[in-house]
Amino acid sequence: MTRRSHVVYRRMAHFHPLAERGEGVYLWDAEGRRYIDGSGGAAVVNIGHGVAEVAQAMAEQAATIAYVHGTMFTTDALETHSEQLAALVPMPEPRFYYMTSGSEAVETAIKFARQLQVARGEPAREVIISRWGSYHGATMGALALTGRSKMRTLFAPLFRDQPHIPPPYCYRCPFEPPLNPPQTRNSHPTCNLACAQALETEILRQGSGRVAAFIAESVSGATLGAVAPPEGYWPLVRQICDRYGVLLIADEVMAGFGRTGRWFGIEHFDVQPDVITMGKGVTGGYFPLSVTAVRGADVERIRQVHGDFVHGGTFSHHAVGAAAGLAVLRYLQKNDLVTASAAKGEVLGEKLSAALGELPCVGDVRGIGLLWGVEFVADRATKAPFPPAAHFARRVADAAFDKGLIVYPVAGCADGVAGDLVLIAPPFIITEAQMDEVVRLLREAVLKVASAQTGAGDLPGQTGGQQTNWGTGAMGRTG
Ligand SMILES: Cc1ncc(COP(=O)(O)O)c(C=O)c1O
Repeated sequence: MTRRSHVVYRRMAHFHPLAERGEGVYLWDAEGRRYIDGSGGAAVVNIGHGVAEVAQAMAEQAATIAYVHGTMFTTDALETHSEQLAALVPMPEPRFYYMTSGSEAVETAIKFARQLQVARGEPAREVIISRWGSYHGATMGALALTGRSKMRTLFAPLFRDQPHIPPPYCYRCPFEPPLNPPQTRNSHPTCNLACAQALETEILRQGSGRVAAFIAESVSGATLGAVAPPEGYWPLVRQICDRYGVLLIADEVMAGFGRTGRWFGIEHFDVQPDVITMGKGVTGGYFPLSVTAVRGADVERIRQVHGDFVHGGTFSHHAVGAAAGLAVLRYLQKNDLVTASAAKGEVLGEKLSAALGELPCVGDVRGIGLLWGVEFVADRATKAPFPPAAHFARRVADAAFDKGLIVYPVAGCADGVAGDLVLIAPPFIITEAQMDEVVRLLREAVLKVASAQTGAGDLPGQTGGQQTNWGTGAMGRTG
C-alpha cells in the first residue's frame, strides 16, 4: 500500500494487504494474489465468500428499512429469522436476543442469567464459573470469563474476576500428576471425568447459593483448538448444574451454525443448555450479528418480576443483520451445508492426519466437523511446547499466508502462555481438491518453520514437561 494509513491495525508490525474480492473459499488482494481461506477468517465464513443472494437480501432490507430502534419497532426480517431459528436450537420454547458480536452475546447471556436468578428470588447468586483454556470475548464481562492469560492479564484490574475450572483437554489432562510415566497417565473413562467433577468442587467452594451460572464452549475453539470433551462430560455438567440451581450457558459462538457438523456443538452430547450464545456463523461474516437463545419460561419469569430485561444497545435487533442471518440460514438449509460440514470434516481430518500427524513437531491433530486443530510440540514424547518467544504458530500462519493459505494461529493452549496450534476451519463449500491444497500448503509452511526452528538451536524440552498448571492459577501470568 503506498498511501499513508490512518488505521490502527490489529497487528501493528504486520503489513496488511488490501483485500479486494472474495469468492467461495478464495480471497484476492489488490496485487492480484489469491489466498485460500483455510480458516474462514476466525471460523466465521461458513458459507463461503461472495454469495450474491446474501448481499442482495441485505441490500433489499437496507433499501426498504435499514434501522429502527429495538425499543420502538420489530421487523419482518427479525420475526422470520427468530421463527426459523427456533426450530433448530436444542432448547424448549427458545426466544432470541440480538446483538452485534459474540462478546455481546456472552454479555447478554450472563446478564440474563443474573437477572433470572434475582427474578427467581435468589439475589445472592452473583458468581459465574467458567474454564481455563477458554475464549468468551473481548468485552470486560466476557474477558473475566475467558481463560487465556495472554488476553486477560493486562486488563484484569479493570474487571471483576470470576472463578475458572480446568478444561476437558485430554491431550494435556490438567489432572495429570507432573511426572507420571506414560503408562500411568490419566485417561478417559478411568479418570472419572475429574474435569467435570471440578465444577461441583468449585460450586461448593464458592458457596452453592452464590453461583448463578456456568459457561463453557460446547467444543473448545479459539484457545484449545477444536477440542471436543470426552463422552459423559456434558451430561455430568448438566446434572451438577441442576443439583445446585446453576444455569448452564453453552457458548456456541464458534462451534455453532454447523461448524462441528451439527447445527450446534452441544447436540453431539445430547444436553440442553439454559442459554446458548451464537455469533460468527450466524451471518457467516456478511454482517456483525450475534444471538443469545434463552428459554421462553425464563423470559416470562423476568417479565412478570421486573417488566423488562435490563439490557440493549443502539444496534441490537438490527434489521439488516436479521436479513443477512435469514439469507445465510436459508443458504445453509438449501445446500444442506451442515451435513456437508460433518462429511467433509472427516475427509479433512484424514488428510491433515496423514500429511502432518507424523511430523516431529506435531503433537496432536484433532477436530470435529470442519473445526480442526494442529498442535505443535518441541518434543512429541513429553509434549513439551515450544518456547513462547519462538511464536511457532504465528510463524506457521505467516509462512502459510506467504504461500497463499489462511489459517488461524493460537498461542497459550498448553498452560495459558506456552503452547502453539493452528485452527483449520474452512467454508463448508470446500471441495476435496481445495482441501488437498490447504493441507499441502500447510505442510509446506510447517516444514519451513520447523527447519528454521531447529536451525535456530531451540532444543526440545526447554519449557518443561507436558503438565498443565490450570488448577493453580498460573494462567494469570502475562503472555
Ligand atoms: C467461543 C467464543 N465466544 C465468544 C467469542 C467472541 O466473539 P466476538 O469476537 O465476535 O466478540 C469468540 C470469538 O472468537 C468465541 O470463539
